[in-house]
Amino acid sequence: MYLDNDDEKVLAGEFGETRQKMMEILVALGGVYDAERLVPITSAQVSGASYKTIGKWGLAWLQSLDARVAVPAVLNPIGMPQEGWREFGIAEEFARRQAEVVEAYRRLGIRLECTCTPYYLRITEYGEHLAWSESSAVAYANSVLGARTNREGGPSALAAAIVGKTPYYGLHIVANRRPQVVIEVESGTGLRSDHWGAIGHVAGKKVGNRIPIFEGIRPGRDHLKALGAAMAATGAVALFHVDKITPEARVFSFKTDDLDRVTVTQDEIEALFVETEVEAVAVGCPHCSADELRGLADLLKGKKTTKPFYIFAARGVAKSNPDLVGVIERSGARVIPDTCMVVSPRMDEFASIMVDSGKALAYVPGMCGALARIGTRKECVEVATS
Ligand code: F3S
Repeated sequence: MYLDNDDEKVLAGEFGETRQKMMEILVALGGVYDAERLVPITSAQVSGASYKTIGKWGLAWLQSLDARVAVPAVLNPIGMPQEGWREFGIAEEFARRQAEVVEAYRRLGIRLECTCTPYYLRITEYGEHLAWSESSAVAYANSVLGARTNREGGPSALAAAIVGKTPYYGLHIVANRRPQVVIEVESGTGLRSDHWGAIGHVAGKKVGNRIPIFEGIRPGRDHLKALGAAMAATGAVALFHVDKITPEARVFSFKTDDLDRVTVTQDEIEALFVETEVEAVAVGCPHCSADELRGLADLLKGKKTTKPFYIFAARGVAKSNPDLVGVIERSGARVIPDTCMVVSPRMDEFASIMVDSGKALAYVPGMCGALARIGTRKECVEVATS
């Protein structure tokens, strides 16, 4: 991989041991994927932020680093809200360790907004090169915004943040972003027929790591978020297109005649909705937008929860919508920033959790050891307040 003079100096250790290590990670990654060079990035999103997922070795590695990020960088959700963690049910010992992880990232200059929806906090534009690591954020950045990022691991996103560049391969290259398979969604009239998380959950299993293009659907931005998150979880989709909707499908006229075609049927969608008793309800995977908070506030107005109901959102989004948060919390539901239903140990304490997310449906059983039930957002509110 070609390195310019400055890159070579970083690699030789002239700018310190941490930068040298970070450049070594990028050079190794570039070697594996045959990248011709590095490309400057405009932002990074770094996963590996919850103590639940990185443990003591991950923390020790972070604490050994000594440098500052070269571009704006945010963290993925951590294992607890930064304030009010005790009320959220987090143990003292975990909180202490998690605070050490956060402090290690703070020292590196990473913004302590801990979210999988960094696109709500910082404008990210078409064609920008990024190094983002959380799979739903990657799918959104590539597909909905038309920015360019591979699905980075925690260390490679951090290395890119510190160096300010990432290897130029994969989805950074326009020619690699063409659709490879067409998805059609059977139309239906039921309440769940356009549940975008459920459609993505089924579609991801069918397309694996190919780049799909949907035909015949008209999802909005939040729908695209749910769709991509689910496909990234049940498949390995880091970029998808929707004919006439997503930016690259509008800029390029993709020819799809020769591509494989798969169909998501209404029976497959309906089969995901198994009604069973649950101990808690959680929405906000990915973290809620302001519109989604508004929808939840409307559904919860005048109601009282009868079981724990957690709504996860970026701290900045919750903070700029105090009225909506007020309405939601008057019902007994809690808007929780910084963390999520999958990476927080709080959720491990429930044996069964209802979610409205196709991604959470895939991850909750393995990551929280709980049975997961999926419902529409309205059904989640009904179950939480019944
Ligand atoms: Fe975000 Fe956690 Fe879901 S990181 S996409 S809320 S699993």
